[in-house]
Amino acid sequence: MTSGHPTGLHADLRTKGFAITHDHLDSGRLRALQDDARSLVARFVRDGYRSEDYWSYDDAGHDLPMLYRIHHLERQGARRITDFVAGALLRRLAAETLGTSAQPTAAALIVKTPGVAGVPWHRDRTNVPPATAINLSLFLQDATPENGCIEVVPGSHLLADDSDVDTVRRTGPILALPARRGDILLHDVRLVHGSGRNPTTAPRHSIIVEFDRTASGSLLMVT
Ligand code: NI
Repeated sequence: MTSGHPTGLHADLRTKGFAITHDHLDSGRLRALQDDARSLVARFVRDGYRSEDYWSYDDAGHDLPMLYRIHHLERQGARRITDFVAGALLRRLAAETLGTSAQPTAAALIVKTPGVAGVPWHRDRTNVPPATAINLSLFLQDATPENGCIEVVPGSHLLADDSDVDTVRRTGPILALPARRGDILLHDVRLVHGSGRNPTTAPRHSIIVEFDRTASGSLLMVT
């Protein structure tokens, strides 16, 4: 499962639908991204900022809306996150994993607020063949089964476009993918995956960027 070698990432994507790679960010750079992520979340939670890019839902047990995603992450004015999303590292990892160059097509911050609901099982999309588009997730804090790490059905990216997600999940096998802060998970957009709720008291953030080797140009509106 673990590999930093280009061939390894590409092989893992093709056979399993995901790969994990480590040790690409030093602690200072990781801390800068953590700080930027906390600042963006604080705009919503502390300052009352609201935008259609900040995805939340109302929950009877909480006074504040439950924030779970900040969409169009590259446009939110967090400079170090914007640089990271558009930078060379992710482009290189995407190219190694897909076996060819690819363009970033979407970016978001996934916010695992304590108590926020898990992500229902799904495929991101199935309108591309396997090993065509991937999502790269940089974990800003450790992700464990205890705080709702991602779970996948290995190989499910190869299933038919119209496969029933609930049936695939029941058939399994389900594999939890714990990760350390700084790890980068790459998964096929076709992979069947989900994640549990975060019952701890500590928020968990991850930066997710989609790359598509068939995209003609970058859809990120980085300025
Ligand atoms: Ni997803």
